Amino acid sequence: MSAMSDRKAVMLTRAWIRWLLMHGITRSYLLWSARRGDPLAQIAFGQDRLLGTSPFIEEIRQRGRLTKLSGTHVTTDYDLCRRILRDNRFGVVTPNHPIIPKPIRWVLAKTDQELPNLTEPPSMLVTDPPEHTRYRRLVGQAFSPGAIAELKQRAVEVTDGLLDRLESKPRPDLIEDFAAQVPVAIIAEILGLPADMHSTLLRWGLNSAPLVDRALTWTTYRHATDELAEVKQYFDQRIDKLTAEPGDDLLSVLATSRELTRREQTANAALLLDAGFLTTVNLLGNGIALLTSHPDQLKLLMAKPELWPDTIEEILRYDCPVRMTGRISNCDVDIADQHIKRGSLVLLSLAGANYDPGVFPDPERFDVTRVNAADHLAFSGGVHGCLGYRLARMEGIIALRTLFERYPDLRLDGAPIPRRLINLHAYRSMPAKLTAD
Ligand code: HEM
Repeated sequence: MSAMSDRKAVMLTRAWIRWLLMHGITRSYLLWSARRGDPLAQIAFGQDRLLGTSPFIEEIRQRGRLTKLSGTHVTTDYDLCRRILRDNRFGVVTPNHPIIPKPIRWVLAKTDQELPNLTEPPSMLVTDPPEHTRYRRLVGQAFSPGAIAELKQRAVEVTDGLLDRLESKPRPDLIEDFAAQVPVAIIAEILGLPADMHSTLLRWGLNSAPLVDRALTWTTYRHATDELAEVKQYFDQRIDKLTAEPGDDLLSVLATSRELTRREQTANAALLLDAGFLTTVNLLGNGIALLTSHPDQLKLLMAKPELWPDTIEEILRYDCPVRMTGRISNCDVDIADQHIKRGSLVLLSLAGANYDPGVFPDPERFDVTRVNAADHLAFSGGVHGCLGYRLARMEGIIALRTLFERYPDLRLDGAPIPRRLINLHAYRSMPAKLTAD
């Protein structure tokens, strides 16, 4: 074997060991639990791709405010989710958490390829303060009310341009041709990435999205991490360029920050890119599916366009794009009449919290006039609450309102096809007819 193929074999073995520790073992355990009817394990294996309420989430709710399944605490209770997200006795789940046995941490450190995986540190999503505060403060300004107000006109132009192009297509795909394109164009502009990169950015994001799930197969994991190697190379080169010649974009802010290492810069650039469109595409896609399947609500909305902001909140509540998050207790905690030991994983079902009947009466009803829809937990909460929520809301209102006002007879042409993801509720394809025949 040549030195090159030797090196490749070593890398592959390392990746496999990492996959085994981070996904493979959990996968075997969850498969066993799923066969025994465990509702959490059923969710982990993608049995739960329904619109609206989920029988598995409801089964978990029936077991109490905080229950233990597949060796993990889990809650669908709104108040409890909210409290835990804001409780600094809980931190994020990371492969270098002190609670993980030392030998496993050692192997994970040795097999770390330093890829910009949004679910691994130093992505801010999975970094606790004080590092988290440092990252978030640096990029926060780009998502302030003023910054988002300035982007509004661009969102209108991008949406209009895409809708003009849809006109010539007899059977457009509203995901590929519209829902995915609006957010990728805007986040690329924020980061200062060129327009001819949009399709590559989409490919990177969509192919690495499964990493948000746990219990991946080796093939899915490998495919997703291969994609990240390309992302790393691209951002490294671009950051090199911007360090020497910064622009007025967000990537230049990261590139010229003396507070961040190169790895921190690349990881957080990749996080901002992915977070900027992987979820908003689903707000738009899920919103189109919901509105076309609830013509009474759409009719009301067309008569009262002032209801659009509330409608976006109800879409986020009803079909939460990020289904679940998790936290680890950093000390023993007594909560919801239970004792949680230090180092326990608690899964917070954001989708379940959004269907908590104590907070959202008749939760299965999709109601664009629901008064407290905006109380949903689709953007999570606490220190890791979504940084881009203002941007997502702004894009959601502009894109969906313009689409339905321009094409009031819009309807889906066949059932939309879901993506094979667990934690992100997403459609892959949504063929449509824009006008009545
Ligand atoms: C409908 C669209 C969106 C949804 C549903 C959504 C949802 C979420 C959720 C649930 C979290 C926190 C996860 C946790 O607590 O573990 C989060 C974090 C985050 N989101 Fe969003 N997001 C959306 C759009 C955006 C956009 C447009 C951006 C722009 C870049 C963005 C940037 C981020 C970032 C950077 C974080 C990490 C924040 C931190 O850890 O401090 N998101 N998002």
